[in-house]
Amino acid sequence: MKTLVIGTGGREHALALSLSRDAGVTEVHAAPGNPGIAEVATLHDVDPLDGAAVAALATRLEADLVVIGPEAPLVAGVADAVRAAGIACFGPTAAAAQLEGSKAFAKEIMAAAQVPTAMAHVCETREQIESALDGFGPPYVVKDDALAAGKGVVVTDDRQEALDHALSCDRVVIEEFLDGPEVSLFAVTDGSTVLPLQPAQDFKRALDGDEGPNTGGMGAYTPLGWTPDDLVAEVTRRVLVPTVEEMSRRGTPFAGLLYAGLALTSRGVRVVEFNARFGDPETQAILALLRTPLSALLHGAATGTLDQVGMPHWLDATAVTVVMSSAGYPATSSSGDAITGVDAANGLEGVDVIHAGTALADDGSLVTAGGRVLSVTAVGTDLADARARAYAGVGAIRIEGGQHRTDIALAAEQGHIQL
Ligand code: AMP
Ligand code: GLY
Repeated sequence: MKTLVIGTGGREHALALSLSRDAGVTEVHAAPGNPGIAEVATLHDVDPLDGAAVAALATRLEADLVVIGPEAPLVAGVADAVRAAGIACFGPTAAAAQLEGSKAFAKEIMAAAQVPTAMAHVCETREQIESALDGFGPPYVVKDDALAAGKGVVVTDDRQEALDHALSCDRVVIEEFLDGPEVSLFAVTDGSTVLPLQPAQDFKRALDGDEGPNTGGMGAYTPLGWTPDDLVAEVTRRVLVPTVEEMSRRGTPFAGLLYAGLALTSRGVRVVEFNARFGDPETQAILALLRTPLSALLHGAATGTLDQVGMPHWLDATAVTVVMSSAGYPATSSSGDAITGVDAANGLEGVDVIHAGTALADDGSLVTAGGRVLSVTAVGTDLADARARAYAGVGAIRIEGGQHRTDIALAAEQGHIQL
């Protein structure tokens, strides 16, 4: 099968890497890609947001499967354009991607499907905002209704900070604070069959100890040793299946990757958010352990034949990924800073260095080109082993002015996660 991956980040590198190792895949192409993706795919200089251009590229390549990585092209209808050209595409329609594109729409679907989530108010005026903030009390949870790459959410005890963020949004969702650890559960679906993947945990805050601002994600690991045994079954039954059914009932079936961000609260599982695509960086860890050919899952979802694929199989191992970012992330980012040691890290056993915001300088050297620069993904026998390998990889790499968390998966390794 000839495949084309759309996007330019770490998730797309992980997807392209996995497809390049898949016996069912003959060619991997990517647009626009990055220097890491270039090592496993043929790159094409096409704007990922231009549906006509992506469809034309897929047609010219005679691609059997197009995989759309990021949310922005999905919300812009790029998957619709590819399917209209008669090519199988992994990724929901623009209408279905509203599950991620609008937090208010996601709340409406969850209410209709009786999916457990935080109570919320959608606010457009200062009066509504203040009344919602004071109704819930601290900690305040304030979410920009529009797409904000994981950075439109402020969780704070400071009423003024919450109010300022809310007033800076056109439309804002203010909701009840959910306590308890977070879990990311991904499911591949063709709109009727739902195949959950292995749960992962990601680390959203910029700094060690879950301090600092929210980011796109600073690291992840899978599997989780500390969740209840029936978590996947329960979330499939109470969250994933009802959501997929509700989307079908409305005539906007959801096919692609349904990402449920969950909080395991003292009162049970609650959905924090839905995304309409693979999460980044959880994907890097999850795909490192996937034994079922990725192409079979993605093609099955794209063509409505997932019932023939069956539940995915996993390596009996643990994967940890640690994100390395450039100076200033997440408030800003720094481009053109030198990166060294990637080959040394890649040479370590069990380690893959996944590129996100990297570029080649004029002299051919690798430099930063964004906030999240690399993620170092390692597979080990258990958390301690996988963490040690991942951090050995991180230690081999230097990013001028760069930063990373030193405590990815540490609390889980030490058995400190409280349910
Ligand atoms: P979201 O973009 O909706 O996933 O929010 C980003 C992050 O903010 C989440 O991963 C949580 O860490 C935090 N967050 C969002 N909603 C809530 C909530 N209702 N209660 C507590 N934390 C939240
Ligand atoms: N890891 C969080 C996200 O992809 O939104």
